[in-house]
Amino acid sequence: MPQLSQKLTVDGLWKRIARRMARARLHYGHGTDNPRDDAAALICHVLEVPTGLPTPALLKKTPSLRQRLMIEALAARRIRERIPVVYLTRQCWFAGLSMYVDERVLIPRSPLAELIERRFAPWIDSRRVHRVCDMGTGSGCIAVACARSFQRARVDAVDISPAALAVARINIARHRLAKRVRVVKSDHFSALGRRAYDIIVSNPPYVGRRELATLPAEYRHEPSLALGAGADGLDSVRVLLKCAPRHLRPGGILVVEVGNTEQAVRRAWRALPFTWLEFERGGGGVFLLTREQLTE
Ligand SMILES: C[S@@+](CC[C@H](N)C(=O)[O-])C[C@H]1O[C@@H](n2cnc3c(N)ncnc32)[C@H](O)[C@@H]1O
Repeated sequence: MPQLSQKLTVDGLWKRIARRMARARLHYGHGTDNPRDDAAALICHVLEVPTGLPTPALLKKTPSLRQRLMIEALAARRIRERIPVVYLTRQCWFAGLSMYVDERVLIPRSPLAELIERRFAPWIDSRRVHRVCDMGTGSGCIAVACARSFQRARVDAVDISPAALAVARINIARHRLAKRVRVVKSDHFSALGRRAYDIIVSNPPYVGRRELATLPAEYRHEPSLALGAGADGLDSVRVLLKCAPRHLRPGGILVVEVGNTEQAVRRAWRALPFTWLEFERGGGGVFLLTREQLTE
């Protein structure tokens, strides 16, 4: 139990919570990769510091008893219930944009953010991008970021989960994009008719059954629909590869994150000329195919 009679500066509290988190051997992989950053995110959330990093001046201050109790309570939940910090703060960043997040959606962390910020260069001429489909939109992070990157494009944010789409709507409204980003409830392409796109981008579920059972406790707070994709993790990728050609305009591209199932994808579709993308900020397991490559 924290000794609340003992006055602590923000710096002292930060160090103490980070130490407690380190001892608890938590799993990091939902936006932060160490206990200090996790503790800072909780403290900044309560003290309403938007940058997520305490300033030198703030470090010397003493939080009020109420603030201290709130910070301690959040840290205790992070440790005891293994809840990723972002679900506690309900706030994260994707491609430089602030996103509302809760347990109805996967926590945004896709390397695709970097590609979207680059407007998919050099893979497509951004001037010709009028329609984008984000398949498996979750929080809507990819759809919102695409709409921001392509200021004149219309974006379909597609998901099978009504709960996820409710969160996507919050983010679309937050970024005032309701006129250009359409939310569609659909099992992959089934509700999209003959609609065709210049870019189909997707971070689909891609965890196989065996791996799903061994994931650290933090992942159990994420919707299983967002992670699991059948016995080998390839169920969603199979649908994307089969159906995308019908929904791509000539010259259009399909970009899919498959993470650590990259080797399984390479083995399963040996004949497809995948381009595996590289990212400056880290991450990988993302392939790109043109419509022409998919149909050849
Ligand atoms: C890995 S999450 C990605 C969420 C978000 N795009 C991101 O990058 O953070 C996969 C998403 O695909 C959705 N999904 C799963 N099966 C689907 C299906 N058959 N059709 C459409 N969406 C599906 C899940 O509900 C989930 O929101």
